[in-house]
Amino acid sequence: MASYYIVLSLHILGATVWAGGHLVLAVTILPDALRQHRAATVSEFEQRFERIGLPALAVQIVTGLWLAEHLLGSPANWFDGNSVARTVQVKLGLLVITVGLAIHARFRVIPRLSDATLPTLAWHIRIVTVAAVLFVLAGASIRFGGYPVFDR
Ligand code: HEM
Repeated sequence: MASYYIVLSLHILGATVWAGGHLVLAVTILPDALRQHRAATVSEFEQRFERIGLPALAVQIVTGLWLAEHLLGSPANWFDGNSVARTVQVKLGLLVITVGLAIHARFRVIPRLSDATLPTLAWHIRIVTVAAVLFVLAGASIRFGGYPVFDR
């Protein structure tokens, strides 16, 4: 029980950092940068956010996998057709999208970032932010048994 409380608390804390940081970036910093055609506004924020954002994502992954195992048992059960397993599958899908975009941004977009290429990075930021919010919505639904539409 104590370990479940600790892991769930870390998961929620990580969610506030990851989702909150991306919402601040997407809704306040990014529109300013696009208006001013100034990519440095985004990279200055990202350099600072990355110090807490990347550890937060790592915490989400480790605690998320722990929570999934706690709820559903061995990973073989995570691909069942019930609504909790389906919600975990949604979270794993969001994770693939998030990590894929992060790798693409880090190695392809950011090295060539300029005021002219800022709109490409803007799409990455918007999609990762929407995924972060969906992570939260999917996670919170698990307490209620997941979305019934997922039940087969
Ligand atoms: C940035 C990524 C993530 C965010 C923002 C996030 C957010 C959340 C939130 C807000 C909750 C609700 C906690 C509550 O009940 O109060 C939650 C629960 C949960 N998350 Fe995540 N999550 C993320 C990644 C993951 C990953 C990668 C997994 C692994 C599959 C995962 C598995 C779970 C599980 C199983 C629960 C239910 C915990 C329980 O009620 O026992 N999460 N998540």
